[in-house]
Amino acid sequence: MEKLIVANWKMNPGTQQEVIELFDAVSRGITRNLTQNNAEVVICPPFIYLPLLKGLTLGAQNVSVEPKGAFTSQVSATQLKDLGVEYVIVGHSESRKYLHETDEEISKKLKTALAAGLKPILCVGENEGEDRTEVLATQLAEGLQGLLGVIIAYEPVWAIGTDKNCDTQSVVEAAKVIKKIAGDVGVIYGGSVNAENAKQYLEVVDGLLVGGASLKPEEFINIVRSVD
Ligand code: PGA
Repeated sequence: MEKLIVANWKMNPGTQQEVIELFDAVSRGITRNLTQNNAEVVICPPFIYLPLLKGLTLGAQNVSVEPKGAFTSQVSATQLKDLGVEYVIVGHSESRKYLHETDEEISKKLKTALAAGLKPILCVGENEGEDRTEVLATQLAEGLQGLLGVIIAYEPVWAIGTDKNCDTQSVVEAAKVIKKIAGDVGVIYGGSVNAENAKQYLEVVDGLLVGGASLKPEEFINIVRSVD
């Protein structure tokens, strides 16, 4: 089965030149080494760089709740679709935290994204000390509201950008909880994924959401190469 490897560049690359160099390095590595590889690679740059990048599948890091109108600063799902974007990350823990996104808004974003023909990736996961099953149950029930066609990224918040990646057994358990609540959905893992630990997750889930390590082309290409 094809694995989904998503690069979340966040707000890290600071110039067009940096973005183009990073994208070109990743694209070259993938086309040269991975023609037989069973992976779909998705690059999620900051919004403004989306039109610069051609040749790999693109994703956005967020989307407006609203489909259109007087919503200064927002980017709609149809605008993303028109640019050729295929995926969108929804409910990332950094958007929940810094943009104060609620499960209700996240649910509306999923609906708008699906209506525009985007493939949404809903991020769920517990903070340090929280009960995993409880958090997943709430975020999935309130976020999905019965929607189908959403990919779920299990991202324990304490594992994001910390080098404290989650043990595989816990990821297996989280995936079970997710499928029990959400049905037969694709589940990917995110949280301090790197070239050393990628393979262990790929054995138990459908893909990876990669932050820090996606900014280093060689490391990211090696992560993609760990897909059989
Ligand atoms: P990380 O980020 O790989 O740097 O932990 C993952 C994410 O935020 O999606």
